[in-house]
Amino acid sequence: MEVKIEKLDNYGRGITYLNNKICFVSNALPGEIVLIEIEKENRKYIEAKLLSYKNKSSNRIIEECPYSGFCGGCQLNHINYDDENKFKEEKVRDILKKFVNIDFDIVKSIVYHERNHYRNKVILHGKNGKLGYYKNKSNEIIPITECLLVNKRINKIISILNQINVNIEEVIIKTSNDQSQAMVSISGEVSDDSLLLQYCDVLILNGRYLSSKKYIETKIGDKKYQESIQSFFQINTTLTKDLYDEVFNQIKGNRYQTVLDLYCGTGTIGIYVSGECDKIISIDCSFSNIEDAKNNAVLNKIDNIEFICDKVENRIDKIKGVNAIIVDPPRAGLDKKTISYLKKLNPQKIIYVSCDLITLARDLKDLSEAYNIRYIKPFNMFPRTYHCESITVLERR
Ligand SMILES: C[S@@+](CC[C@H](N)C(=O)[O-])C[C@H]1O[C@@H](n2cnc3c(N)ncnc32)[C@H](O)[C@@H]1O
Repeated sequence: MEVKIEKLDNYGRGITYLNNKICFVSNALPGEIVLIEIEKENRKYIEAKLLSYKNKSSNRIIEECPYSGFCGGCQLNHINYDDENKFKEEKVRDILKKFVNIDFDIVKSIVYHERNHYRNKVILHGKNGKLGYYKNKSNEIIPITECLLVNKRINKIISILNQINVNIEEVIIKTSNDQSQAMVSISGEVSDDSLLLQYCDVLILNGRYLSSKKYIETKIGDKKYQESIQSFFQINTTLTKDLYDEVFNQIKGNRYQTVLDLYCGTGTIGIYVSGECDKIISIDCSFSNIEDAKNNAVLNKIDNIEFICDKVENRIDKIKGVNAIIVDPPRAGLDKKTISYLKKLNPQKIIYVSCDLITLARDLKDLSEAYNIRYIKPFNMFPRTYHCESITVLERR
């Protein structure tokens, strides 16, 4: 059947309406007239398969990626970059209008850099001598020789891995943001690890370190950070500085006595803003992150920061007297106990760094009972995918 696509949903799928229900069509753009076949229908929605295009959008571009449509990594390969950025900015506005009823101008312009080669980390999967990404919604492996998302050093390492792969089950590749250092952890079997050792600073084979170094170091602004294989680190090589600068500017000049940095990872944001306040308390539940975070404080000669390795929800009720709180939770957002204690702690400012708009909107609805939302700034940290990072600044009423 023939339909006209009206708009894109949160995941970048085309939306049309059929049988009085919303109908999702992957790889279709607003304005396009397409032939579809219904694949799934329930009481609330329809999912349809696109059979052919009757009329293509002028915003559609030729997909540069040979794996587009097969590998599950990118959803927006077919949209030009300007439109991808507009789509993300608008979806921030739409979702927050719907859940929190915010004014249009509270959402600032999206910040973005390069569309390609921005990632400093990748995980590949392997089976029967194939190495690559999982096919969309399946365990089938799409072999990869290079990927448009990752930086050039990672692509070089992928080409070496393809030469020495005997039976790699999984590989994690990380580089410093300037690509001068690389770290590789392999589960499985390779024919020649000495070849790989020439191309990376840290090499781990089945949990055993084959290199003397155990971490890589990266610079963001004037701060240096070490990062171990299991630790969290922001994956965008250039835009992370803009993200951290935004948080920094919100702390700067206030001379807050105590700032709380929740879900602190390797301590990066707390360390970034540490010169602008008297004391920082940072919490993260990952042992590896907190070990790196403590070393990062030493590396940057910072002594006004305290790290706690625990779940935020286990510790938040024991914290007292904070002036500002930075939160950067995983996609699940903040749990109810944490939100209720954030409100009890009653800081002047909450800076909410989020990688998931739906849980952000849910949490802002709750927090906005006691806080005014000053602004939300989207950051396109994950070009070609539907994901969107953002910073929201909330001020106590
Ligand atoms: C999005 S990352 C933020 C990291 C950091 N702010 C940065 O910019 O690198 C989320 C972090 O939350 C941590 N985490 C997840 N659930 C947690 C919980 N319940 N309590 C504490 N930390 C948690 C993870 O270990 C991860 O480091």
